[in-house]
Amino acid sequence: MSFLTAFFYDRFMAKAEEACLKDWRQELLKQVSGDVLEIGAGTGASIGFYSDRVTNLVLTEPDKHMCKLLKLNVSNRSLENIQISDGTAEQIQADDESFDFVVASLVCCSLSNLETGLHEIKRVLRPRGKLVFLEHVAAADGTSRRRWQNRFNPIWRTFMGNCHLNRETEQAILSAGLNIKEIKRESMRKAIPIVRPTIRGIAEKA
Ligand SMILES: C[S@@+](CC[C@H](N)C(=O)[O-])C[C@H]1O[C@@H](n2cnc3c(N)ncnc32)[C@H](O)[C@@H]1O
Repeated sequence: MSFLTAFFYDRFMAKAEEACLKDWRQELLKQVSGDVLEIGAGTGASIGFYSDRVTNLVLTEPDKHMCKLLKLNVSNRSLENIQISDGTAEQIQADDESFDFVVASLVCCSLSNLETGLHEIKRVLRPRGKLVFLEHVAAADGTSRRRWQNRFNPIWRTFMGNCHLNRETEQAILSAGLNIKEIKRESMRKAIPIVRPTIRGIAEKA
């Protein structure tokens, strides 16, 4: 991601955060506890929503510009029990079965290899551990929104840090062998129309 994209990222997302994302983060993250890994934490939009039931929080962010902003955000809040690493979701630097929860928000769209990333998430989750996801996804096949997503995808990926507009993330989660326990599908209000379709919920490792 370029320095400029990272620098303007929070401003670009501000209206959608106010309109819905903050509420969705709160609703999902209040259920999270114990040892938690957040992949692709970005500038740290979720960190204010973790409760004190989270005993150990590991944030990964591979982009150096985003990581700098993340570190600043964490240090401004004087949060404790947080570690930051620059690892990718495709190669998580953690032992097997070491987390109770993995959190992925608006990140599955950007992974170089979604399938590998989800298998890594499954590897580091404890039995009955949970993936908490909040993702923008492909619109339904055959809709005009999906056609626009497909058309814009190459240029969008180039300028938005490999973000894919048309990922079928729900299917990918299931294909990775995670059981979806809760899922909501809603439009990301105040976002540009091609990123509005979202899914959010919880998937469990059997
Ligand atoms: C759209 S931002 C979302 C940031 C944050 N999770 C949020 O909810 O605001 C996507 C983030 O995923 C990160 N990312 C890209 N590829 C990644 C990968 N392979 N593994 C982990 N994170 C990645 C990007 O650097 C970026 O910070």
